[in-house]
Amino acid sequence: MAKIRLDKYIANGGVYTRSRAKKLIHANKVSVGGKTVTDEAFKVDEEQTDIAVNGINVRAEKYIYIMLNKPSGVISATHDKKQKTVIDLIAPQDRRNGLFPAGRLDIDTEGLIILTNDGDFAHNTLSPKKHVSKLYAADVENYTFSAESQKRFGDGIVLLDGSKCKPAILTYKGRGEGYVSVTLEITEGKFHQVKKMFESEGGRVIRLKRLSFGEIQLDDALKSGEYRKLNPTEMLYVEKIKNNNGA
Ligand code: URA
Repeated sequence: MAKIRLDKYIANGGVYTRSRAKKLIHANKVSVGGKTVTDEAFKVDEEQTDIAVNGINVRAEKYIYIMLNKPSGVISATHDKKQKTVIDLIAPQDRRNGLFPAGRLDIDTEGLIILTNDGDFAHNTLSPKKHVSKLYAADVENYTFSAESQKRFGDGIVLLDGSKCKPAILTYKGRGEGYVSVTLEITEGKFHQVKKMFESEGGRVIRLKRLSFGEIQLDDALKSGEYRKLNPTEMLYVEKIKNNNGA
């Protein structure tokens, strides 16, 4: 990889002029690999991806796609005065202007959420027309799993407000003290959808975790609160969605 000066690297990003880049470097606003660098002539790789100005990554790569294992207690928003957001979990060198969660999980829902600055991808995955399937693991209180209930989910549950859901696949996983563990695959994204579906069966979801989103599965290696960029195989799915051929 070709080595270039830090001020040139920043100017190549297209946001700052070369002279502005120099000023930012002298003002301690630029980091390389998380460490502040004050020498404008510092040599970096042209393809290096861990250089930030004011905490925002400046690399030329236009879009970023991150898989986050969202913990409970964190909200799916970009900023909030009181609550911790999913963006707060992303290290400065991986942040971009416009980074936001593609879809929402409730504050108490855990698991897979994709963060991106690619509005087209987010729009396409959230469009009801795309029928992107989402798989959740749920622990449900006051609920008895039965073939009849499974069929109601399969036919399309009617919520307490009278609205009918699209067919969903309910699978029994086991039983704990006072609750039943299931997985549920849905293709919609109504507000509190999984919780409301079980409410209409008299149950209460006490733990909810998203395991997959379309063809992208939560990486088992990610502990709660950890994230990684989508790998090349997962990126094929992103491209598929963007080209309107999504699942
Ligand atoms: N359904 C819910 O009820 N909550 C979520 O966070 C996601 C799906």
